[in-house]
Parts: sequence; C-alpha cells; structure tokens
Amino acid sequence: MGKIAIASDHAGREVKDDLIEFLKGLGYEVIDMGVNSDSSVDYPDYGSPVAEKVSGGKIERAVLLCGTGIGMSILANKYKGVRAALVSDVYSARMAKEHNDANILVIGGRVVGKGLARELVKEWLEAKFIGGRHQRRLDKIKDIEEKRK
Ligand code: RB5
Repeated sequence: MGKIAIASDHAGREVKDDLIEFLKGLGYEVIDMGVNSDSSVDYPDYGSPVAEKVSGGKIERAVLLCGTGIGMSILANKYKGVRAALVSDVYSARMAKEHNDANILVIGGRVVGKGLARELVKEWLEAKFIGGRHQRRLDKIKDIEEKRK
C-alpha cells in the first residue's frame, strides 16, 4: 500500500492517532511524526519536518492536522513541490488528488470528526491524478515557484 507520514499539533492529535490506526488497518506503513501529548505546541514545529520530507522526495505523501487545518496548510505550501490541500468534504478530498495532485492532505481536527477524517483520507488515497489540462495548470504553478525562489 505504501508509506505515509502524518503529524499534528495538540489540536489534531486525537484525530491523527485515530487515522494512524485506520491507515495501518488498510495496510499502509505509517510514519508518526508527532505530536504525542496533549500539551500545547506550535504546529510549524511538527508540520515542517513532514513538509520537508515531501518536498525533498523522501516520502511521496503525508497527512497534517491542526485545529482548523489552516495553519498547517499555510505552512506546508511554503515548501517547494508541496501541494497541500485543506479539505473537510469528501468531494474536495477526491478532487485534491484528481485535479490538484495534492501530496499532503490537511485536516482540521477541531472541524472534522474521526469518521469523516477517515473517509477524507481514504478518498484522497484511492483517487488518481487525471493529468491533461490539470497537469498544465500544475506546471504553471511550478513555473511560478521556480521564478519566485
Ligand atoms: C491551536 O490552538 C490552533 O491555533 C492550531 O491548531 C491551528 O488551528 C492553527 O491554524
């Protein structure tokens, strides 16, 4: 099934831990990059190592969670080659892969319950990027990334 990294801050920890069990049950090798306590932490400290791995090609895909998912998505999208999608509905989770080839799925642990979070991740993992005109659009984003660095 492949490898998937996952991390959260304190506000996403419960949903993260549930997703780890779920993904392991589906047969994925899950790399838990914290946080593993309920004490308040800063989401960049946990999101950055994951975004770095994806950006550097060390891992193909990852899931990040914080309270709303907003902080983690802002952070992850600073990294070259990262396409992080914050989703809270199943349609967007599928489109995130089919149209945007998102390599990080971001979920708000205070927005989405455990059951829906499982559905979101499963939908994203099972979808396939459809390329074509969507690849052209991603290429344009890549060009901007190159020019602005
Ligand atoms: C933490 O309170 C919260 O701000 C954080 O989890 C996240 O929602 C930030 O975007």
